[in-house]
Order: sequence, then structure tokens, then C-alpha cells
Amino acid sequence: MLDITPLRFEDDRLFILDQTKLPNEELEIELKTAEDVWDAIKKLKVRGAPAIGVCAAYGLYVSVLDVWEIDTESFINLVRETADYINSSRPTAVNLSWALKRMVKRVEDAAAAYPGLKVKDVREIMLKEAQAIHEEDVAACMAMGEYGLELLKPGMGILTHCNAGTIATSKYGTCLAPLHLGQERGYGFKVFCDETRPLLQGARLTAWELVKNGVDTTLICDNMASIVMKNGWIDAVVVGCDRMAANGDGANKIGTSGVAILAHEYGIPFYMFVPTSTIDLNTPTGDDIPIELRHGEEIYEMWYEKPMAPTKVKTYNPSFDVTDHKYISAVITEKGIVRPPYDINLKKLFEQE
Ligand code: MRU
Repeated sequence: MLDITPLRFEDDRLFILDQTKLPNEELEIELKTAEDVWDAIKKLKVRGAPAIGVCAAYGLYVSVLDVWEIDTESFINLVRETADYINSSRPTAVNLSWALKRMVKRVEDAAAAYPGLKVKDVREIMLKEAQAIHEEDVAACMAMGEYGLELLKPGMGILTHCNAGTIATSKYGTCLAPLHLGQERGYGFKVFCDETRPLLQGARLTAWELVKNGVDTTLICDNMASIVMKNGWIDAVVVGCDRMAANGDGANKIGTSGVAILAHEYGIPFYMFVPTSTIDLNTPTGDDIPIELRHGEEIYEMWYEKPMAPTKVKTYNPSFDVTDHKYISAVITEKGIVRPPYDINLKKLFEQE
């Protein structure tokens, strides 16, 4: 199995693979402060919903590592404030707020249970929680890989959008996990990846990751999804998710909803891979998911030597769109495959706990 991870935590130090440098350079950078963590998430040096969550958890821990001359209550307040600050970096992927809330709640619960808690104890609790979030994500991705493989047959043509692979998670990926597993087991998938404008996660990251693992990979521009479907080359679409609402509407990288509508038109199953950390039952429908808007410069300038549009032109650059639940054939979670009706069946995943 492919042995690349988006982050490494060693001896109280947090390192990430700077994904803005891929595919040309594999550069590791260290995040030492809350500002470093905020900046890395905002600029997509670390990206992908689960990876952002894990990075934020360790990031919160390292951000308050050098603070010692402080009482426990003030330290916990600092943890809360730092978590709020890191959480403000990106709004759509719920894993970010999920992981930070989990860290803060763990600390608050411990403080309530043990009134004599020292700052060093709080630190230890934070580290253990971050490690648990990390380990659970590795296990969830492996489980989604196995469940995903149940839906796919050897030799299938598979289309994917954006990057929900090993570098978007702790390891293996969500929707790319079955493709990596299939590669190990001789499934011979033929994978098509959309380049995913404007930030090219499909071209720079998915193509890089799949080619590195020896998967038969064809890169296409986003506007070629329809022709490859019409040609009969696609048997299934697999994508990740940044936040799934209680009714099964799923926000994912901009362009995903168009691919889902095309797949529906051509009668191709559309599978969304969603760890339970990405399901937000507090968000009733896709209309309630906050959609990140980014600078138009990413559209007209970022990848070109010179601007490829008049720089005074107005732009609209939403980073995500919402795929209506009616286009999603199945939701693959680490707890199993969920089928419609999603408003009922997603809830059941949490009742099992
Ligand atoms: O803006 P990005 O690159 O963070 O967007 C990532 C995606 O949309 C992924 O598909 C999603 O986070 C799932 S990652 C397993």
C-alpha cells in the first residue's frame, strides 16, 4: 500500500507535506504556531477534510506547547481561543470544527472531573486526543476502502473529482482507498481523474498519487467528464465529501454536483465516501452548509505566467458545491454502506454508538 501521508507528528513536532508544491516537489514543512496552522489550512498546504481535522488537532496541541507560566483555568481558556482561531481558517469541511470541538470538550470534561488538574496534565490529555483522532482516521479510511471495493468490480472504469486520497486523510484516502486497495489486489481499474479547476487537485494530487501507486490513470479536463461517460468508459464515479447534511446532501469540491448530475443522466452509480466525522447531523440540508468563497485570482492568474483574463473582470469562485442527495447512489462510511432514505439511515449510524 502507498506509504505517503500528509502529516507527521514526532517528538512534539508537527510536519506537513506542503501540497501546494506537488507534484513537482515533495517538501515537508514544520508548523509551530497557531498562525502557521491557520495559514497552512487557509492556503491548502494541508487540505482534504479529514487531513485538516487531524492537522488542526495536533496543531492546537503544538500551538500552546510553549505556554507554562499560567494557571490551569487560563490555559484552558487559551486552548478555547486558539481552537476558535484555527477554526476560522476554512468554513466548509466540518472535520475542522469537529476535531477542534472534540479536543476542547475532552479538556473541559477532564477539568470538570478532576479539579486539581495541572497544565501538564491538560497537555497530555490533548496529545492523547489528537493521537486518537489520527488513529481513528487511519482505521476509518481502511474500512471505507474495503466497503468501497465491495461496490466495484475488476477492470471497471472509474471517474473521480478533486483529491480524496491518501494526502487528503491520515492515510489511504476515502474514495481513493478502494482504488489503492484494488491496485494491491490486481483489480486493474482504469481511473479517470478530472483536473479540478481552479486549484487542480485532480491533476496535481490525484494523478500524482495514483500514478505513484502504479494505477492506470487518465487525466481529463473537467469539461470532458460527459464525453468519457458517453463513450461508455465509466462504470462508477467515486468522490469524497467535506460535509454531509442530515438529509444526505453532500458538499464537496466545486464541480462535484455537475459530475453527479451527468452520472445520473448516463445511469452511472455515483458513490460518495463520507467518514462519520464528515457527517453533520446539526446541518439539516445542503442549503445550510457554508460554502467557502476564494479569490478570483485562482481562476485567472494563479497557474499562468500572465493573467489569462482582464484582471478587472468580476469573478465568482466558490470552492465547493452541494450534490443533492437524490444523485448519490450510496454513501460509504467506515461503519458500512448507507443507502437512501438518507435522512433516516444516516442517523442510524450514530444510534449504534
Ligand atoms: O479544497 P480542498 O482541496 O480541501 O477540497 C477537498 C475536497 O473537496 C475533498 O474531496 C474532500 O475534502 C474529501 S477528502 C477525503
